Amino acid sequence: MGARRILISDLDGTLLGDDAALAEFAAWHAARRAAFRLVYASGRLYESVVESIRTTPLPKPDAIISGVGSEIHDFQTGAPWPEWNRNLTGWDAAGVRDALTRFSSLELQPEEFLSDYKVSYFARGLSESGLIEIRHSLDEAGFRTNLVYSSNRDLDVLPAHADKGQAARHVAEAWELKPCDVLTSGDSGNDAEMMSYDFKGIVVANAQPELRELSGPNVYHSRLSYAAGVLDGIRYWCGE
Ligand code: GLC
Ligand code: MG
Repeated sequence: MGARRILISDLDGTLLGDDAALAEFAAWHAARRAAFRLVYASGRLYESVVESIRTTPLPKPDAIISGVGSEIHDFQTGAPWPEWNRNLTGWDAAGVRDALTRFSSLELQPEEFLSDYKVSYFARGLSESGLIEIRHSLDEAGFRTNLVYSSNRDLDVLPAHADKGQAARHVAEAWELKPCDVLTSGDSGNDAEMMSYDFKGIVVANAQPELRELSGPNVYHSRLSYAAGVLDGIRYWCGE
């Protein structure tokens, strides 16, 4: 794989959501496969992402970042990247769940959405102060965690090193790609960290408010939605 550039994209609400635009994206990718590597970065767990690739026109990616950055797999072999999640000092999924039982505003998501590296809740309308209180509780219990809040509804508690941004950076570094050759696209809070590290960010028009309010020289806000917004962003950053 000699490709010099990479697109790291969210799926739900970004590449997925408009079938005609996704077909256009797939055609674009088929013609650029040699120039662009492709990585999906999803909040869903690995098997669920693989199932979407199997059942939709999503092109086959080179790698999959899943579970909000808590997992990275090679797509072709299905093997997890062995070095990811190695340093888990201070992380204990069961302990995190215990520490948060006292918060009645948190409803644990169904078990199929949880893993040893991702504890997720539904937490509708969580305020900034509510989030700080949860963070304090986890800190006091001695857990080193990363909290990611999306769509005014989903609260993911992850190991401190894990989120989509840190996982994207890890992949780009492993493949020796410069940050300015990394394009990222997304629609909600769990994509916000991918809009840093000097990556070239693309926010689709249908994005949640927390992403629409991001600004800076490395964030492009498309006026188009879903996969059409991603293609528009690629044209904006790369002219192709
Ligand atoms: C996906 C996951 C869910 C997570 C959400 C936000 O919907 O299935 O567990 O909370 O993304 O990251
Ligand atoms: Mg999304």
